Amino acid sequence: MLELIDVGVNLEGENGKVQVLNHINLNLDKKMIYVMTGPNGGGKSSIAKTIMGIYPLTTGKIVMDGIDISEKSITERAKLGIGYAMQQPARFKGMKVRDMLTLAAGDDSEKNLCDLLFDVGLCAQDYLNREINASFSGGELKRLEIASVLARKLKVVLFDEPEAGIDLWSFKKLTQTFENLNEKYDTTIIIISHQERILRLADQVIMVADGKISEITDKEKILDEIKILDSNCRCRKTCEIRGKSNAIECNR
Ligand SMILES: Nc1ncnc2c1ncn2[C@@H]1O[C@H](COP(=O)(O)OP(=O)(O)OP(=O)(O)O)[C@@H](O)[C@H]1O
Ligand SMILES: [Mg+2]
Repeated sequence: MLELIDVGVNLEGENGKVQVLNHINLNLDKKMIYVMTGPNGGGKSSIAKTIMGIYPLTTGKIVMDGIDISEKSITERAKLGIGYAMQQPARFKGMKVRDMLTLAAGDDSEKNLCDLLFDVGLCAQDYLNREINASFSGGELKRLEIASVLARKLKVVLFDEPEAGIDLWSFKKLTQTFENLNEKYDTTIIIISHQERILRLADQVIMVADGKISEITDKEKILDEIKILDSNCRCRKTCEIRGKSNAIECNR
């Protein structure tokens, strides 16, 4: 459905050329949930930006449903059904929540707008007529951006660290929303995340490090590795010796 073939991206950084992505090969199927994870600075957001057309390709190509989209602009890719909820959402300053969601959904029915806000844990009564400005918190903005992506019923959706700044209750709602989206519209979902609870949603886990895909695997393997890391944790062991194994969060 969406294929990245030998994708490489070089960008001009402040200190000259930076090789951001290197020999990326990915074959993403319809109706699957992929979770992309790996160390900070590994290249996850850059892969999302490259799929969306924000970063141009230096080498390789991107093919969607058999069509080479490598040269297509961000707008053209959006029209083809690709969406990206950014790690740090932009503010849609001066616009009302109602207008932003209507624009994304192409549907201004009260029911649809309420459902969209409900899906990201926001109450329509409190938010629908509110103007988006500096008074919005980081978590509220993040949820609004996710709602506007959900509104578009896309073929491929990239969520970049959707959990960042989102409280526990909304987080649970959000994970259900991802699963519904995947089932209802056959959407291919790629979630960039460091969270174990998000990893549990994955059909496949894509590990990204040093601008490359280091591994594509199933979630069980990754979750097992997390368990091993936790039990090897130096501070956890010290705590266990003291009989207080739950007292301190592991920081390795
Ligand atoms: N526009 C850019 N110009 C220069 N360097 C960039 C640019 N975008 C990304 N990079 C570099 O590419 C590398 C990968 O960045 P990226 O944001 O993709 O990482 P990430 O895996 O999303 O990390 P995190 O988990 O911290 O969000 C980093 O070293 C970053 O500094
Ligand atoms: Mg990132």
